[in-house]
Amino acid sequence: MTSLTDSGEFILGLGARRAAEMSEDIFLRLRDLIYDASGIYFSAESRATLERRLRPRVEALGFESFEQYDTHLRFGPARHDELQLALDSVAVQETYFFREESALRAFREEMLPEIAERRSGERLLRVWSAGCSTGEEAYTLAMLVLESGLFEGWRVELSASDLLQRVITEARRGFYAEKSFRTIAPERREKYFTPRGDGTFLVAEPLRAMVDFGCFNLVDSRSFDARPDFDIIFCRNVMLYFGTDARRRTIAAFHRQLREGGYLVLGASESLFTLDTPFRLARLRHDLVYQKG
Ligand SMILES: C[S@@+](CC[C@H](N)C(=O)[O-])C[C@H]1O[C@@H](n2cnc3c(N)ncnc32)[C@H](O)[C@@H]1O
Repeated sequence: MTSLTDSGEFILGLGARRAAEMSEDIFLRLRDLIYDASGIYFSAESRATLERRLRPRVEALGFESFEQYDTHLRFGPARHDELQLALDSVAVQETYFFREESALRAFREEMLPEIAERRSGERLLRVWSAGCSTGEEAYTLAMLVLESGLFEGWRVELSASDLLQRVITEARRGFYAEKSFRTIAPERREKYFTPRGDGTFLVAEPLRAMVDFGCFNLVDSRSFDARPDFDIIFCRNVMLYFGTDARRRTIAAFHRQLREGGYLVLGASESLFTLDTPFRLARLRHDLVYQKG
């Protein structure tokens, strides 16, 4: 149990003890479990970060040690649900509408017009926001596709996925607080969102109808087999937290999943420079992206 002091700090209540520090041995066990389940990697230097992020779960369950928590995660009857909660605690989920403008300009002004021409025969556009968190990136892409006016009468399939069921539920619900709007133009906010009266805003129905949200684990190679092929994959600020092998496998899977000439867009601070990859670097006017073929 926790309670609030006069100074506003939370303290552990009677009966709840602060769990002992995470030992080196248990750090390695938990780090490997998280890596195998998600690709998210904690180096030895990040041990304190992992401990800080998991501690609230350990103490909420009343455990006195991280070792007990590790056993619970591996063998407990609720291990599948607890793994989701553990991953939710360790995964960085920061996102907002119109994040990293240069990639979005390249999408709107370069990739979309090129694909509209290349695919004018079959009139099918497929875009995937992989690791979409609460959905701001996917709805941003939906706005840009709509505003381009290039795909009227086309079949437009906009998929968005994340490892965590909780963020996918939030994305489908489509309520957003102020922090999600930090870089959106006021006209778009006015046009696509309705205030709900409690400080949050509901995303407009036409955008919700455009995006198909679902859970998808990027390091589970079997799940890729059931996916269609895409023209553009956005996977921004996701593999930044992956270990090298998980990143390599995910990049290879993206390559298989793209149509010839398709694009992979990474976050502004990510690159494939250190990996041997089949992608070629495409120097677009507004951004550097990766292209198949
Ligand atoms: C920092 S957010 C990025 C959101 C968005 N792409 C953006 O750039 O604003 C990273 C997201 O990747 C998700 N993620 C982490 N590992 C994943 C995995 N193995 N498969 C799918 N999603 C994963 C996390 O749950 C989190 O929601």
